[in-house]
Amino acid sequence: MAEKEISQAVISRLPRYLRYLGELKDEGVERISSQELSGLMNVTASQIRQDFNNFGGFGQQGYGYNVEYLYTEIGKILGLDKKHHLIIVGAGNLGQAIANYMNFERRGFIFTGMFDINPELFGKKIRGMEVRPMEEMADFVKQNNVDIAVLTIPKGEAVLVAAKLSDVGIKAIWNFAHVDLAVPKEVQVENVHLSDSLMRLSYMIERYESEVANKE
Ligand code: NAI
Repeated sequence: MAEKEISQAVISRLPRYLRYLGELKDEGVERISSQELSGLMNVTASQIRQDFNNFGGFGQQGYGYNVEYLYTEIGKILGLDKKHHLIIVGAGNLGQAIANYMNFERRGFIFTGMFDINPELFGKKIRGMEVRPMEEMADFVKQNNVDIAVLTIPKGEAVLVAAKLSDVGIKAIWNFAHVDLAVPKEVQVENVHLSDSLMRLSYMIERYESEVANKE
């Protein structure tokens, strides 16, 4: 199905479709048209059809989409039909906050271990998960089939730790450290910068206020 290259813009919209479809499914909705979905999501119906056409369409014209089927298929495209096992590297404020958020598991992201270099944190339990020393990381990754590492450590350490994670066979890094990681091509990296999002918000305030000022 995903033989042809799908644009990043389309991929980045899939999680949002999945969220809405999950809610519809929970509400017992069985079918939805692109127009109805468009009304809910504030995206044009033609955008929705174009996006879904990248994956063969998912539905019949005039008949609407089967919510359960669409939810399952988008989940498969996103690789959510498989479970992922994660470790958190850096058990500080951010690492602990992520560990405490339960909803990731609903999507099949299972947190299995937490690691740090601060001996004061060793043995501390965050939502039942013990913080372990970094020396145990390599064996733990191999023994527990870990495929994703969440990197919540200072940027000065992140490049080196990412290289270590790559060496032990981690498939992907969810990188919160504010630095670009140089890892082998087999290792996928998703950078998350909350401050980028906040700056976009600041830009939106500026833009809105200048539009209003121009109208006056
Ligand atoms: P924190 O200081 O509370 O926690 C960092 C933890 O990393 C500490 O427990 C420390 O002992 C551990 N650590 C340091 N070097 C390590 C290594 N080599 N291996 C394993 N553990 C190591 O800091 P906080 O607030 O949790 O932030 C963590 C990082 O995330 C910082 O770099 C911060 O700038 C970044 N951050 C990024 C955000 C984003 O949106 N991308 C948002 C908030 C923080």
